[in-house]
Amino acid sequence: VRRVVLVGVGCGHPDQVTVQAVRALNELDVLFLVTKESADDLAAFRREIVARHRSAGGYRTVELPDPPRPWRTAVDYAGAVERWRGQRAAAWEAAIRDQLADGELGAFLVWGDPSLYESTLAVIDDVAQRGQVAFDHEVIPGVSSIHALTARHRIPLNRVGRPVVITPARLVEDGLPEGVDDVVVMLDARGTFARIPADGIEIYWGAYLGTDDEILISGRLGDVADEIARARAACRARRGWIFDIYLLRRHR
Ligand SMILES: C[S@@+](CC[C@H](N)C(=O)[O-])C[C@H]1O[C@@H](n2cnc3c(N)ncnc32)[C@H](O)[C@@H]1O
Repeated sequence: VRRVVLVGVGCGHPDQVTVQAVRALNELDVLFLVTKESADDLAAFRREIVARHRSAGGYRTVELPDPPRPWRTAVDYAGAVERWRGQRAAAWEAAIRDQLADGELGAFLVWGDPSLYESTLAVIDDVAQRGQVAFDHEVIPGVSSIHALTARHRIPLNRVGRPVVITPARLVEDGLPEGVDDVVVMLDARGTFARIPADGIEIYWGAYLGTDDEILISGRLGDVADEIARARAACRARRGWIFDIYLLRRHR
C-alpha cells in the first residue's frame, strides 16, 4: 500500500526538526512540494530542510502548484471555497496515484505543526474520502509558532489553572473574548492588536520566529503598539510578506 506522511518541520529554524521527522525525511521516496505563487520562501525552506537532514539523494520531488484561494469577499464564498478544496484534492489524488508507487513513502512537509491552522491534513482527508486511491497516512508533530513564541519570550503559555484561546485575528477585532485573559492571535493581516482596547493588556509579539530576521517585542499594549506597527510595516516593505504571532495577556 502507498504511504503518505505529513511531517511537521517547525516554523523557521532548521534545528526545530525532530528526530522523528528526520527519520521520515530519510525514508521518503517522493517529496510532495506544495507551491504558492506568493510564498517562494516557504518552498525554498522545505527544500533546504530536506537537503540539510537527509543523508542521501535518491528521492523524487513532485510539485503541486496551489490554486489561488478565493477572496473572502467573493460572491458565494462558501461555494468558491468548496470548489477550491475540490481542485486541490483532485490534483493531490492524481499525484499520489501517478507519482507514488505501491509500497513507497510520500511526504508533505508542513510548516510548524500539521494540526494548527493548516489545510494539508484536511486535503489529505478529502483525498482519502474520495476513495479513488488507497493509501495509509500518518502525522508527525512539529514545533508550532505558538511554542516558538513562548520559548523566545521565556513565558508560560497559560496561567495556572486558566484557559488559553487560540484565534485568527479577525475574531478579536472587537476585543478579547469574555472570560478569557490569555489569547494567542495568528493570521493577522491588519495589525489588529492596535485596535483592541489596551487597558490592562500586555502583548508578547514575534515575527519570523526562528529565522535570521526574527523580531521580538513585548510590553504593555498601549506602550508598544506603535513600535510593533512600525516594525511590521518595515518588514512588509522589505520582504513583501510577514509572519507574526502574539499573545495578549490581560491583568485584572
Ligand atoms: C497558516 S498558519 C500555520 C501555522 C503553523 N502550522 C504552526 O504550527 O505555527 C500561519 C500563521 O502562523 C504564524 N506563524 C507561523 N510561523 C511563524 C513564525 N516563524 N513567526 C511568527 N509567526 C508564525 C503566523 O500567525 C502565521 O500567520
